[in-house]
Amino acid sequence: SDSFEINQAGHLAIGGVDTLKLAKKYGTPLIAYDVSKIKSKIKHFKQAFIEANVPYRVVYASKAFSAMAMYQLVAQEGLGCDVVSGGELYTALKGGMPPERIEFHGNNKLPAELEMAVDAKIGCIVVDNFQEIEFLDNILRAKKSSIAVVLRVAPGIEAETHKYISTGQENSKFGFDVHSGQAEKALKQLIENPRMNVKGVHCHIGSQIFSAKGFVMAVEKMVSLLHEWYEKYSFEAEVLNLGGGFGTRYTEQDQPLPPEVFAAKIITAVKEKINAYGLKLPAIWIEPGRSLAGEAAATLYTVGSRKDVEGVCHFVAVDGGMGDNIRPALYQAKYEAMLANKPKALQEQIVTIVGKYCESGDILVQDASLPITHPGDILAIPSTGAYGYTMASNYNRNPRPAVVFCENGTDQLIIRRETYDDMLNCDLGM
Ligand code: LLP
Repeated sequence: SDSFEINQAGHLAIGGVDTLKLAKKYGTPLIAYDVSKIKSKIKHFKQAFIEANVPYRVVYASKAFSAMAMYQLVAQEGLGCDVVSGGELYTALKGGMPPERIEFHGNNKLPAELEMAVDAKIGCIVVDNFQEIEFLDNILRAKKSSIAVVLRVAPGIEAETHKYISTGQENSKFGFDVHSGQAEKALKQLIENPRMNVKGVHCHIGSQIFSAKGFVMAVEKMVSLLHEWYEKYSFEAEVLNLGGGFGTRYTEQDQPLPPEVFAAKIITAVKEKINAYGLKLPAIWIEPGRSLAGEAAATLYTVGSRKDVEGVCHFVAVDGGMGDNIRPALYQAKYEAMLANKPKALQEQIVTIVGKYCESGDILVQDASLPITHPGDILAIPSTGAYGYTMASNYNRNPRPAVVFCENGTDQLIIRRETYDDMLNCDLGM
């Protein structure tokens, strides 16, 4: 596609760096980010809020790609982040994310994780269920402390996406249900609790969503809820957090709205609805993960063996696979592929790109059109910047890949490749 960078040598480049040089320098599989693409997505999301002149916060959903350098980068760009575990919280703090910009999500935050969040004085906890309110209250009492919270509700909206990544529907494991009155009961508990300062409400309808329709429906539900709660409890939300889920492009078939259009449609819907009820405009928060990180990276692999059975199958195997990208196997996710050393060559064959793992389901791309491949060719799979490294595993005792940030023709290793000894770190033998 035309959005890829081809350099004068005729090779695929990322952030101005030749991918063959990257492969040689760091080895493969290698996840290479173009930092300017991350920055540009951030800029476009922010732009919509700045133009509309509304209070806002863009919170990076760090489950998409969690690494110290990434927290550092998004913090520099003025963003906050969302963490969903003690491990993400630990990494965010080590990466230099200011604690007051961190929000903590999750349907089963452990007492030890909540304690860590309270001790670090993070910005807010997005409370998800009654058990969590109890755990958190015990911690706050013991520490004679208090914290800001945001109430997560399940608004009862089905996003048009894969069912594993759809989260807003009533039978979701996340958040307080609205219709049964749970959300209202939770609000009352929080209002009455002097240790919890309830700042607002949150919902997240799902992930990899291409249109604004579901978000607009969510806004309507959430604002009418705020209206009801204002009438009943004089509750005025400072924050209306509409979650993440903005779709990105993996293949040519994917046509998501651009970030600034998603944001603008949400802003318009919030303003209209808030004005209709005569409420005070809360700060609008969004939590993009995939849409900041996904399209910014490509994974580079080295081509190894082939298996051709005429008229039956053509497999091209690479030196990674489901251990560094589980998404095709888990969600039937589609990707494109190209030869980094010959991105413009005639695409002469349709092949199945497979990994090196001992599973038939270890397929990265089903029907890729490529030039004839040879061992040693560098194969690039674009749009692997989100939920690739973070969902990586050591299956078959394959080390996790290295990750590099590229920008303006320079490259910086931000996660080194795992070694065999790294994998034995926790293995004590007998
Ligand atoms: N906020 C909340 C509360 C979430 O649960 C999520 C994602 C996000 C924000 C960020 O969503 P994004 O903007 O990245 O779509 N592993 C799956 C995606 C799981 C998403 C879970 N929650 C995948 O690889 O497609």
